Amino acid sequence: MVIKLALFLHIISAIFWIGGMLFLTLVVAPFLKTMPDPKDRSKVYQFVGKKYRRFGWAAIIILLVTGPIILYGIYGISPGMYFSSSTLSTGFGHALIIKLALVALIVISSFTHDFFFGPKARNSSKYNLIAKIFGRGNLLVALFIVIFAVMLRAGGL
Ligand code: HEM
Repeated sequence: MVIKLALFLHIISAIFWIGGMLFLTLVVAPFLKTMPDPKDRSKVYQFVGKKYRRFGWAAIIILLVTGPIILYGIYGISPGMYFSSSTLSTGFGHALIIKLALVALIVISSFTHDFFFGPKARNSSKYNLIAKIFGRGNLLVALFIVIFAVMLRAGGL
């Protein structure tokens, strides 16, 4: 039961977090372009960004907690075995290591975007551009994480 709940929470958190990034990029950002006043645009983006940030980090924490539970519960791989030669000698292990590397990258990059460049973007077109690049980069990395999650499901690379 715990494993099923962990997998459910894992998948629903990934859906919310990555779905949110897609929505912001494909729906909110184009809508903001139709707003003539840059101050209004920034106000809307700061409000939506802050609201989404809170739920986004809740999703990230749930993913980081449920991931190891699923890995141990379904595949018997404990955290101490992630980088062991037995894990690394399999196609599954390769998919896992790449997924974990991408997860580490996106956690650092999301933190930088959400708590440094994002807030600084309020009154600066330079930081606005940097925040946009980080935002789009995070979306790309997140989509690759899902590709390697599916590889895990399919037995590895
Ligand atoms: C940013 C973080 C993460 C995202 C977006 C993410 C996304 C996903 C998604 C969408 C699935 C469902 C794929 C499927 O079952 O077909 C999945 C499954 C899985 N994830 Fe993650 N994940 C993340 C972090 C982690 C971490 C940190 C671990 C392990 C330490 C992990 C281990 C797993 C495992 C073992 C599965 C089950 C694969 C299977 O279905 O057999 N994930 N993940």
